[in-house]
Amino acid sequence: MSEGVRQRRPLQTDGNVVHEKPKQPAKSISWKRALCVSFISCIVALPVIIYLLPSPIEPVAYSMPDPPSFEGPLAPNDHLQKADRLYENKILGPESLVIDGDHLYTGTDDGKIVDIHKGTIRTIAKLGRDPCGRFEDEPTCGRPLGMKLDHEGYLIVVDSYLGLFKVNVATGDVYLLWPSTAPINGKVPRFLNDLYIMPDGLIYITESSTKWQWRHNRFNLLEGNNTGRLISYDPKTNITTELATGFAFANGIQLTRNGDALLICETTTARIMKYNLIGPNAGKVEVFADNLPGLPDNIRRSSSGGYWVGFAVIRRKEQFSLIDFTAPRPWLRKLVTKFLSQESIMRFIPKYGLIAEFNDKGEIVRSLHDSTGTKVPDISEVEDHDGVLFLGSYGLPYLSKLYLQRIKN
Ligand SMILES: *[C@@H]1O[C@H](CO)[C@@H](O)[C@H](O)[C@H]1NC(C)=O
Ligand SMILES: *[C@@H]1O[C@H](CO)[C@@H](O)[C@H](O)[C@H]1NC(C)=O
Repeated sequence: MSEGVRQRRPLQTDGNVVHEKPKQPAKSISWKRALCVSFISCIVALPVIIYLLPSPIEPVAYSMPDPPSFEGPLAPNDHLQKADRLYENKILGPESLVIDGDHLYTGTDDGKIVDIHKGTIRTIAKLGRDPCGRFEDEPTCGRPLGMKLDHEGYLIVVDSYLGLFKVNVATGDVYLLWPSTAPINGKVPRFLNDLYIMPDGLIYITESSTKWQWRHNRFNLLEGNNTGRLISYDPKTNITTELATGFAFANGIQLTRNGDALLICETTTARIMKYNLIGPNAGKVEVFADNLPGLPDNIRRSSSGGYWVGFAVIRRKEQFSLIDFTAPRPWLRKLVTKFLSQESIMRFIPKYGLIAEFNDKGEIVRSLHDSTGTKVPDISEVEDHDGVLFLGSYGLPYLSKLYLQRIKN
């Protein structure tokens, strides 16, 4: 053993040639080692850096059944391609629609409430104040969403940011009923969405999230938390009540035909919930329709005895669904939002137009598609009126109109 050590030592100190030779490999070894060390530290540091990068959302896990197959009443057709675009580039994001005789009222992305009458668009009112148009301006500009006529002919409007309003459609006078600065059960409304007016005047309102605002609706979706709630407002007493909580993105609301319950679209989880108004289950929330073919937006009565629902994003068995894939993987949603903005995330969602009609049991009886997503890619609301479907959209720069006659076989 000691012999081996002795034998090596002389070799290393054996003159210039021998002395210089080992120097070169030593240099390249240390260079390689440095490279290696920095590579490894990169590999180790990268996840740490990514982990430390802030994400705007705190996602929670949720689960959905396997998406439905597009067959039977969901079989694809291109009926929605037969729709006409109205007022293209003259109206931005007509989300909710009210039809009264030959007037059509809607609210736009730039905070206006407009009356469309015999082909002309007239601004009746603005609920917020200028400037409008930029992301930063939205909370003060306002975003009118759900609207309905009350029994005296006033237009009752929820502005997602500003609160509940009453508008005289003839004069344009605006009355603030409930400002969003006033808390409801300790929490100020942040993301009001839709409303329904009962025959006795009581108004039911959905609030999509008590954390995020309308302009962050994608974050609300990606977070997947159930901070949405159902509120009532009594115009006689000016009293608001928080009736139910725990909705994952409460959206459209509609009274059932027999008046026994409110149907509430729950966007994140692709369901329609039912809030019972009468009977032993009054005040309780149950599922009305589950595993929908997309994320539901507004719900309105159909002319054939059911309900129309518009969908923003679709989910189908035959196609990879990003929404379903990330539902049980909150870490993935967190990761993605560290690098991508709300808008860039939406680019991964394929464009598709879909509306579906439900019966009173919560079953889909028919559906109309635009499978290319070129005509009407996202539909927020369907107004079924005199053989015509008017299709609203929160983001498109037009209204769409489909004559039901055109889709008869
Ligand atoms: C209703 O009550 C709220 C909260 O107190 C108040 O801010 C609002 O002005 C009231 N609305 C009416 C119409 O009196
Ligand atoms: C989800 O919302 C509830 C309130 O409804 C809140 O207590 C909880 O902290 C939220 N979860 C996360 C991860 O933010």
